[in-house]
Amino acid sequence: MDSILVKGSGPLRGQIPIAGAKNACLALMPATLLSEEPLTLTNAPRLSDIKTMTELLRSLGAEVSSLQDGQVQALSSHNIDNHVADYEIVRKMRASNLVLGPMLARLGQAVVSLPGGCAIGARPMDLHIHGLEALGAEIELKDGYLHAKAPGGLKGAMIELNFASVGATENIMMAATLAKGTTVIKNAAREPEIVDLADCLTKMGAHIDGAGTGTITIEGVDRLHGATHPVVTDRIELGTYMLAPAICGGEVELLGGRLDLIGAFVEKLDAAGIDVTETKAGLMVKRRGDRVKAVDVTTEPFPGFPTDLQAQMMALMCTADGTSVLEEKIFENRFMHAPELIRMGAQIDVQGGHATVTGVERLKGAPVMATDLRASVSLILAGLAAEGETIVNRVYHLDRGYEHVVRKFSAVGAKIERIKGS
Ligand code: UD1
Repeated sequence: MDSILVKGSGPLRGQIPIAGAKNACLALMPATLLSEEPLTLTNAPRLSDIKTMTELLRSLGAEVSSLQDGQVQALSSHNIDNHVADYEIVRKMRASNLVLGPMLARLGQAVVSLPGGCAIGARPMDLHIHGLEALGAEIELKDGYLHAKAPGGLKGAMIELNFASVGATENIMMAATLAKGTTVIKNAAREPEIVDLADCLTKMGAHIDGAGTGTITIEGVDRLHGATHPVVTDRIELGTYMLAPAICGGEVELLGGRLDLIGAFVEKLDAAGIDVTETKAGLMVKRRGDRVKAVDVTTEPFPGFPTDLQAQMMALMCTADGTSVLEEKIFENRFMHAPELIRMGAQIDVQGGHATVTGVERLKGAPVMATDLRASVSLILAGLAAEGETIVNRVYHLDRGYEHVVRKFSAVGAKIERIKGS
């Protein structure tokens, strides 16, 4: 198994191009199931999660081809001959559950394996089910699979989510595009990936209003047609690379970066002593002093501080001046990177959903183990701030969400290389 070798680095200088968003692409790809006509996605990221979604869509009968080195995805669902999303694929990636809404809307039936829990928590699907049932679907759990049907078609409804779930909002929004009548989703998720999906569905002929706010209204249409859509910039990849000059010093420009994608994160960086300025090509990030200041962070749905940047922010706080408290409010078990950071000399005390981090002047390199996607990149960031060598094991997590990670960090002077395993 491959590993990543990181050495203490800095200051960093140069540019890093930011890819299309993994999480947006994972919702856009299943949208192909809503139409017989082709859907073309440009600016798609080259990641193993995208390959998993490709595998799933192909298993349903969709055609998916990658063009131009994987950045363009040509999808077609004119001939869907299977409505069962198999456990063997769904268990690899929770976002597989995003085929449920589109299949139900287009075919009137869908059988989708429940994804099960994952390292960061139980992650149930009750809100997806509640929303689709409100649209008239009958859903039963049998042998680990959700069996959903809507023999008479879906009908628009008023749906209030008791938590602004990203996946539930996406599934319900996609299903409602082909339902009869009007659907209103209250307390909808407001993430940029929701807006991107709504934009793409609108190009396909859907009538959607209010995406990006807490209330989304969808007028159902009889059919959707083909479209071409560029995947929005990955705000989590953006935030991750913004932390590299914050940790190592220097000045790095993130090409394609946009402030509107990461508002709350930029406010925290500013409080920690990091300047972020807009440039023609993206965002420039520069650390003001020699050491960042400790800041407290609470993860929240967008536009709050994203849970997907919590681990990386913790890596920054490990060498900050002072004590910070990081509160995780989205997932129940998302501090598994803390024990690994502690192996590198960090001072972290985890109590339930709170982690108290007392900054030390310097971390020390160590062999560490990635436990999930964002945890693994946080260990790379910590390795850049550490004295000596850090080896990050289990890097298949990284390949799920960061394309060309070694190339991108190296481009700004970070000392990092991938070591091929046996
Ligand atoms: C998406 C992102 C993930 C991000 C998360 C929160 C994708 C592919 N993944 O995941 O990277 O960390 O948003 O920003 O876009 N919940 C329920 N019942 C449900 C659905 C969710 O209780 O039916 C809970 C989950 O267990 C979790 C919280 O709600 O604690 C947030 O989940 P949700 O917003 O649905 O995240 P995902 O769509 O799974």
